[in-house]
Amino acid sequence: VDESVPPTVLTSRNLSGIAEYIRAGKARSVTVMVGAGISTSAGIPDFRSPDTGLYANLARLELPYAEAVFDIDYFRSKPEPFYTLAQELYPGRYRPTVTHSFIRLLHDKGLLLKLFTQNIDCLEREAGVPGSKIVEAHGSFARQSCIECKTAYSSDEIRQHIDARTIPRCHDCSGLVKPEIVFFGEALPSAFFENRHLPEEADLTIVMGTSLTVQPFASLPQLAQQGKPRILINKEAVGGLGSRPDDVLLLGDCDAGVRKLAEACGWGEELEALWAAT
Ligand code: APR
Repeated sequence: VDESVPPTVLTSRNLSGIAEYIRAGKARSVTVMVGAGISTSAGIPDFRSPDTGLYANLARLELPYAEAVFDIDYFRSKPEPFYTLAQELYPGRYRPTVTHSFIRLLHDKGLLLKLFTQNIDCLEREAGVPGSKIVEAHGSFARQSCIECKTAYSSDEIRQHIDARTIPRCHDCSGLVKPEIVFFGEALPSAFFENRHLPEEADLTIVMGTSLTVQPFASLPQLAQQGKPRILINKEAVGGLGSRPDDVLLLGDCDAGVRKLAEACGWGEELEALWAAT
């Protein structure tokens, strides 16, 4: 990050500059873009962190390469590894993090224009962010259907198969039934493309807990207008964030980062109360 470049709208290129921008009422439409890093403190591993990431811990599935577990062609030939993993990933037993509550707080304050998430854990909904404000760019476990004829199936039926470690097959065409999470090689939901213009309308972009390595999601932050601040809250610098005069990098744990930002905005107690009630 070239800190020597002066900001054009922020008074300073740091957390307090962003907090001042928010307190001055200049952030009326905030877009938030998140990935697996915001759910790690809930106990759900992310994908690419060394050692702890999912892709570093799939040896037992004997995959040709880690991402094969989410590859549609590999799934057609060998569905077992995904269903083994689905057993561990299935939502329902994780609590949202304080980062999820921070996004809910933005909504409660009427500031959230749209949340774009790559996560399939549905923790944003559980934190109280309304579905109308969420774009689940990589789908979710909320629905499942046959990958061949698209017939829909109930969660209960899939859950039984996953728990019994049997492969759910379509009653009509005996194709494989899969939760509607987006595999490599599959198209993203239409909601992603219908909402992809919104980052251009935002006056603040917040990116959290993502390596920004998977397209087309990874291109969202650069759709923000020039002259509109962007803040990255992440363990590492990613996606070219920091290249613009009003970019701010808050590197480190996202739960700690959102607590600092909430505190600087005078929302510290509200955030803790919201999270405590989640
Ligand atoms: N606080 C802040 N940042 C964190 C934390 C944390 N507690 N934990 C992890 N991170 C950061 C990591 O440093 C990394 O930059 O979050 C990022 C997680 O990156 P990935 O593991 O690649 O996850 P994500 O970006 O969501 O992956 C995108 O890849 O496998 C596909 O479809 C899958 O949606 C997923 C997509």
